Amino acid sequence: MKRKVVLCLAALAVIVGAAALGVTGWMVFQPGPYAFATGKPVPLSAYQGPAPTGVPVELAGADPAMRGAYVAAMADCQACHTAPGGKPFAGGRAFVLPFGTIYTPNLTPDPETGIGNWTDAQFLNAVHRGVAPDGSHYYPAFPYPSYTMLSDEDVLAIKAHLFSLLPVKQANRPNTFGFPYNQRWLMAIWSALFNPDERFRPVPEQSPEWNRGAYLVEAAGHCGECHTPRNLMQALDQRAKFGGATAEGWTAYNISADKVSGIGDWSAEELAAYLSTGHAHGRGVASGPMGEAVELSLSQLTKADIGAIVTYLKSVPAVKGDLPALAGPAPATPQLAGLDNPVGKRIFEGNCASCHAWTGAGAAREEAQLTGVRAVNDPGGANVALMVLHGSGAPTPHRPHMPGFGNAYSNDEIAAVTNYVTARFGARSSTLTAADIAALREAN
Ligand code: HEC
Ligand code: HEC
Ligand code: HEC
Repeated sequence: MKRKVVLCLAALAVIVGAAALGVTGWMVFQPGPYAFATGKPVPLSAYQGPAPTGVPVELAGADPAMRGAYVAAMADCQACHTAPGGKPFAGGRAFVLPFGTIYTPNLTPDPETGIGNWTDAQFLNAVHRGVAPDGSHYYPAFPYPSYTMLSDEDVLAIKAHLFSLLPVKQANRPNTFGFPYNQRWLMAIWSALFNPDERFRPVPEQSPEWNRGAYLVEAAGHCGECHTPRNLMQALDQRAKFGGATAEGWTAYNISADKVSGIGDWSAEELAAYLSTGHAHGRGVASGPMGEAVELSLSQLTKADIGAIVTYLKSVPAVKGDLPALAGPAPATPQLAGLDNPVGKRIFEGNCASCHAWTGAGAAREEAQLTGVRAVNDPGGANVALMVLHGSGAPTPHRPHMPGFGNAYSNDEIAAVTNYVTARFGARSSTLTAADIAALREAN
């Protein structure tokens, strides 16, 4: 009898152990970011096609400063390494995570507070492996598992660009992580599991344009860092590649080929317009972190490079999401229950309709169209609420501006107008509460 119990316990232990290993293995042994593509990736040196790395052919003859600036824009290092209203690349931008806040460091060449004393090897180690000059490890809030695919030449071109900037003296702020998250050595284990530490490998069976797009999207543009969901260990879940995730409180939508929840029915022209200008007719505007990616990175790229990104994006397999089909430019049946919302209605009539039109079609500017737009058709409502809170951010010369109402309205009022907008113009009403708005204020 005793023996039987021991045997049963042993069997149970084996099953539990195997299950735990299985789950861990499932998370650790991920397909690569472009394993979906037919063909066998080869090392860059063995690839016969035109170089997928570096600057596009038009700029091959440009001076090194210009090439460095282009590669830095491709990788969009500036967005994260600049505080709101702060000097470019001087760091200090806060990222609020569930276990504390982390601040980006100063990347200007100031020798004391920036990276002015760093060698090429130290810089490569940081960007490819997430290892600091003192041997400690960075948190993956610095997306080095994507940047590890950048070629050495491109990383060093970025370094040269950074070293050409005026040094800014601004001390780095330590993160506020508590135990055990403040144990940087744990990140050594994390990166051993989740950072392949491998440069981009082109796929000869795919077109040169596709390979350039793969490099721009996966290595430089790190689109998946925002658009791919994460597993329990905070690594990108490549099995749901581009299936949608959250970035600083904003919803980074499904950009796989799914026709309902994703971008499967966007035309190549619409995608190119959205990525290069932040707006595609009838598809809405790029706001929040996506607005920054357009402003600082994508809008700086050549037409051919945007075309390559679109070619690659269109090849990413569909991931089924749970977003409803878009209600279209003239929603036939506004959600009547959601419209029984006098506070939301009053605010929309008083403060939104002048620019967005009573029909949601946009009054003065086509960018202000609310119908047919993903954010308005997202029953989560976060991006609409964040637009009301912050508006379109600092005014820029090439984009129309929307003011923020975060100081003018209470959390209740912002929830009400968001729920009204999604009910009236979207596929399904959001059900945000004042507490949700408070949480969005915290996250952003
Ligand atoms: C998504 C935000 C994000 C982007 C994009 C980003 N970084 Fe960072 N970076 C961080 C964070 C956060 C840290 C701090 C990590 C830590 O403290 O563990 C960091 C740290 C660094 C460091 C270490 C500096 C030091 O003083 O120790 C370097 C170097 C760096 N980043 C370079 C880059 C370069 C080059 C790019 C573009 C190719 C880039 N970063 C893009 C968030 C980002
Ligand atoms: C820092 C996070 C971040 C990065 C990096 C990022 N995105 Fe986004 N993206 C977002 C967010 C957030 C939205 C939603 C914006 C909105 O609602 O206005 C979005 C929206 C989009 C949309 C529109 C989707 C829709 O249904 O309306 C496309 C297309 C897109 N991103 C493509 C890309 C591509 C391609 C890249 C890489 C080159 C990229 N994004 C990089 C955060 C990001
Ligand atoms: C002064 C004019 C103005 C007012 C007032 C205004 N908006 Fe906007 N709104 C705009 C413009 C212009 C855009 C496009 C911004 C851009 O191009 O980045 C926009 C964008 C938006 C978006 C994003 C649409 C998308 O494509 O993703 C939402 C949601 C939105 N506004 C909701 C509201 C609500 C709700 C109110 C009232 C509380 C409001 N707006 C008040 C001008 C305005």
